[in-house]
Amino acid sequence: MFPELLKHEFERFYNRKPAGIYFCPGRVNLIGEHIDYNGGLVMPCAINMGTYLVMAPNESGKIRIRSLNFEDHLEIPVTDRYNKTGGFWYNYPLGVIDRFSVGGQCFGGIDLLYFGNLPIGSGLSSSASIEILTAFALNDYFQLGYDRLGLVKLAKETENHFIGVNSGVMDPFAVVFGSKDTAMVLNCQTLNYKPVSFQLHNHILAIINTHKPHKLAESKYNERVRECGIALALLNQILPVENLCQVTPCELHMHQHLISDITIYKRALHVVEENERVIKAAALLEANNICAFGKLMYQSHYSLKELYEVSGIELDTIVEFSEGWEGVIGARMTGAGFGGCAIALVEKDAFPAYSNALVDFYEDRIGYKPSIYQSAVSDGVSWLPC
Ligand code: GLA
Repeated sequence: MFPELLKHEFERFYNRKPAGIYFCPGRVNLIGEHIDYNGGLVMPCAINMGTYLVMAPNESGKIRIRSLNFEDHLEIPVTDRYNKTGGFWYNYPLGVIDRFSVGGQCFGGIDLLYFGNLPIGSGLSSSASIEILTAFALNDYFQLGYDRLGLVKLAKETENHFIGVNSGVMDPFAVVFGSKDTAMVLNCQTLNYKPVSFQLHNHILAIINTHKPHKLAESKYNERVRECGIALALLNQILPVENLCQVTPCELHMHQHLISDITIYKRALHVVEENERVIKAAALLEANNICAFGKLMYQSHYSLKELYEVSGIELDTIVEFSEGWEGVIGARMTGAGFGGCAIALVEKDAFPAYSNALVDFYEDRIGYKPSIYQSAVSDGVSWLPC
């Protein structure tokens, strides 16, 4: 349905037939939060909501970027470098085009039209989705010769250098390498990953959107990255490690005296313990022990709340309610935090009553309703037949 609508709108806006159609999903992270930029293990999977792109080259020497989700659009002449303008959504595709230019890849005029059904800025990687979608489509259409990992790196560079968020590699990696009914254990230092079967069978993967605008997210996120850098530098006085995830909880404890600032110590403690939780979580999923896996999800959440301090009343309300509801296996915030989305693994039979009760409870406490989606575990970015 979305591709048909997009093709139709593309012809209306640009007066030409589309030449390629592509889809890129969003992602949830099952466990391993705020770990990717610390060089450890994360466990994301791609979901079935995402972003569509219809494109075609043009002869006008212009880059034209539009979306059915936003009024703002861009029309600029092709040049060899591009600049970010304000906080507009089209900076994401523009940034990708700019990174291709930095890599010596230039192309002529191009018409791009996007549509996404991912809630924007909700921790489901709407930005990695549009960046990878753009990179994948241009690479495919113009045969630029990047492999999948090259596209992941390009999207990360776009986010870090063009958009200005120091995010890690997890999101672009997850939406490129995601695969149906599979979660991945990704080592963010080596970029090796191991697929782990994640068949939901009698469970539902629920995504609960707090609808909390997370305006502070970018600055707070960068602050956490900085705090981890400070912890690493202090530990480096004695421990010759490249990143925080090379430190075990026991080593951190032994060297606690190096970190006198309690806030910095709490950040480091979350990181080293969360990294260990991912190892345990992967073993539990492989052993089909979803109940014990769910318990780790709660532990992860409470660590993000107490030690890393990236949760908030909205996410906590969802997780604490879920923990008390029979039939919920596990729940936690997912993504950067400060609002955004929580996830819950819920038994199928329990889901209708749980979701109704959660909506009421949340509205009573927070003052407005959350949205609840059920997601499949899906494939990564792809080309769609025209
Ligand atoms: C955001 C970032 C990711 C990751 C998560 C937290 O989604 O884009 O790189 O750091 O936050 O785990």
